[in-house]
Amino acid sequence: MKRVPYLNTVEAYKRHGSVNPLSVIMSPSGRDRNDLKVVSPKKLFRCFLYLFLFIFMALLIIGLSFLSEDQGGYYSIFSEDMEFYEGADLHDKGRQSAEAEAITEPIILWWTPLTGERGRYKTCGSVSCYFTVDRHYWHHPQTEVFVFYGSDFKVNDLPLPKKSHHQWALLHEESPKNNYIFSHADALEIFNYTSTFRRQSDFPLVTQALESLEWLESQKYVISNSEKNKLLGDLAPVMYTHSDCNPPSDRDTYVSILMKHLDVDSYGTCLHNRDLPDNLKDPIAGMGHKDFYQLVAKYKFSLALENAICTDYITEKLWRPLMAGSVPIVYGSLQIRDLLPDNHSAILIEDFDSPEDLSWYLKFLLENDEEYEKYLHWKKTGVTNPVLKKLMKERVWQTSESFNYVQVNFIDAFECFLCQKVQHNRRRRKQGLETVTYQATYEHYGCPKPNSFDRNGRIREFSSWDYEYGYAKYVAKAVKQLISEGRVFKKDEIEALASQYRREDK
Ligand SMILES: *[C@@H]1O[C@H](CO)[C@@H](O)[C@H](O)[C@H]1NC(C)=O
Ligand SMILES: *[C@@H]1O[C@H](CO)[C@@H](O)[C@H](O)[C@H]1NC(C)=O
Repeated sequence: MKRVPYLNTVEAYKRHGSVNPLSVIMSPSGRDRNDLKVVSPKKLFRCFLYLFLFIFMALLIIGLSFLSEDQGGYYSIFSEDMEFYEGADLHDKGRQSAEAEAITEPIILWWTPLTGERGRYKTCGSVSCYFTVDRHYWHHPQTEVFVFYGSDFKVNDLPLPKKSHHQWALLHEESPKNNYIFSHADALEIFNYTSTFRRQSDFPLVTQALESLEWLESQKYVISNSEKNKLLGDLAPVMYTHSDCNPPSDRDTYVSILMKHLDVDSYGTCLHNRDLPDNLKDPIAGMGHKDFYQLVAKYKFSLALENAICTDYITEKLWRPLMAGSVPIVYGSLQIRDLLPDNHSAILIEDFDSPEDLSWYLKFLLENDEEYEKYLHWKKTGVTNPVLKKLMKERVWQTSESFNYVQVNFIDAFECFLCQKVQHNRRRRKQGLETVTYQATYEHYGCPKPNSFDRNGRIREFSSWDYEYGYAKYVAKAVKQLISEGRVFKKDEIEALASQYRREDK
């Protein structure tokens, strides 16, 4: 088996990227320098030719891989590189010695090695559990929970057969774009516990991108409406800063139509028409930079359009303009109204027939200062929405953006949530009481089928992501069926059963 650079893998996972450990750059074989002494022109020409061909092929391959990444959501349902997953078990103990270890607390095993934790006890309130990413503990008698990170979940790499004392947990705060399988009930139903952006999940991360209410209410960057009016000659009234183009929400189509009716400054790569100042060009450092907040604050309106439309999927695209005092124009969570800071703090595109219709309303606000200013009144009074206040008050974790670690991050918090549930059931079992059962349902994540916009900007029931969405549905059904039969299965079996379901559906 190939050795995997453990630390790098873990570091990469911590940054939520997937990593291919086989792509380690090999050091070039030690050629003798004397080889290069005499080079004939013919040889030189051939060298250049090869070099040219090589670069051409490399560019072609890179180009193709980008293309397939953009469209091939469903490929990620399967693990292509099984060797990586075997390699993920990097403990040097070996399976037998891990299984014989005298661990008395429940073992919570990250099947997708999100945390990189090789194995340790962690205290969660009055109880503790043993957390690890080491698959050598798979068959340890104390192993109770297998945790999966949604974007890395592969249907052909599961701890099978699922034993009756095994519980599966899903952490998936990301959009369905990263794994369409969780848009379907059958996929959710194989889990006992969930932590997703949705309120209905067991450990909800609805406010995953909101640092705090104080941050949201901050006036630090807010400039007055009269200052914004003065800037209008130089800046468009609306700002757009998206760089993930053509996602399932089809937001770029909507904005391109809006642009025909009203000026929009687009700084991202999608519909780009204006460059960011040099100090903001680095997309990672740039978006959380104070200069970026200052730029957002100069705009009367900011387009806050998510890459996918799911209940409670809300990112910094909404919170950032609210914080900076630019009125957000929102397309995102289906129940966004009950999470906005105030009833009059944002403009929802669902309230307008079309982008043209929206543009009329925005023009009206541009000409009526008093009406525009009503949208920012809440910045003076503070958040009025009791639902949002309650959510933030009860939250026991902090966003990863925050460097003020008074509370833990949501990954650690979810681990403790699992530990407490498992320990609670252990106590009940000892006392001869019935244990509590947990069963995830569609509502724990469940995003509807993606739509797109027609050429007038009206929603239509078609999406270039229909294939990914549809295919994932049959795969989910097949996987759930195979698990319930107590089977150990491979990719071909899933594919065969999924195709059968698809045929039967037609
Ligand atoms: C916001 O509007 C909803 C109904 O649309 C209403 O029930 C609620 O009381 C309002 N909240 C505030 C703070 O005005
Ligand atoms: C976990 O889910 C399975 C079915 O999906 C169920 O049979 C089992 O009782 C659940 N376990 C717990 C502890 O809730």
